[in-house]
Amino acid sequence: MRVMLFNASPKAYGATQEILNIIRRALPGGVQVDEVCLGNVPLEFCLGCKQCYETGDCVRGGQVRAILDRMNACDAVVIACPSYWADIPAQFKAFIDRCTPYADTAPANGHWHLRSGICCYGIALRTGGRTEECEHILSCIEHFCGHMGLRYGGGLCLTRIEGKEDIAPHAAMLQDAAARWLSAEEGQA
Ligand SMILES: Cc1cc2nc3c(=O)[nH]c(=O)nc-3n(C[C@H](O)[C@H](O)[C@H](O)COP(=O)(O)O)c2cc1C
Repeated sequence: MRVMLFNASPKAYGATQEILNIIRRALPGGVQVDEVCLGNVPLEFCLGCKQCYETGDCVRGGQVRAILDRMNACDAVVIACPSYWADIPAQFKAFIDRCTPYADTAPANGHWHLRSGICCYGIALRTGGRTEECEHILSCIEHFCGHMGLRYGGGLCLTRIEGKEDIAPHAAMLQDAAARWLSAEEGQA
């Protein structure tokens, strides 16, 4: 079993990373973990040129395809994403836009795609108290999954999270989710 822990925040050592650290520590020793933090990835915006519709690749190059290759080697992905202005952070939006060549929306055939069957779970967090904003983040993740051929397995909402010191009270819930998600994946294998 190989799991990708994907930090969609621009911050490599914030609350989002703390959530993924708890998930990583909850996974049994035999599970291989690959970690991506978008804050450490230089990402240029999509130009909207649509050349990728024909070519199946982005004119800007960069690391997006390499990250997807790593995702393709995993059985499951956990995307943790904070709310920035009631939405996903710009870095994550840029990443999603740059995935267009590999999505099912590109009209040309023969493009590279993720293999089918990889499951994706979402975790949304925010400082405010209402869960609707987190639900919106999860629906963005689910939408991304739908067009990338990932099987969306559901998600968690964490509210009242200002910084990483606010994550500890949620540790047991995160550990339970990690165990539940892992057993669901083992059931699929
Ligand atoms: C630029 C920016 C915008 C934010 N906008 C919101 C917001 O609209 N709603 C909210 O509840 N929290 C908002 N937050 C708070 C973050 O969701 C919260 O601090 C989260 O823990 C950040 O995780 P991170 O440190 O891993 O990036 C914002 C934080 C930043 C830096």
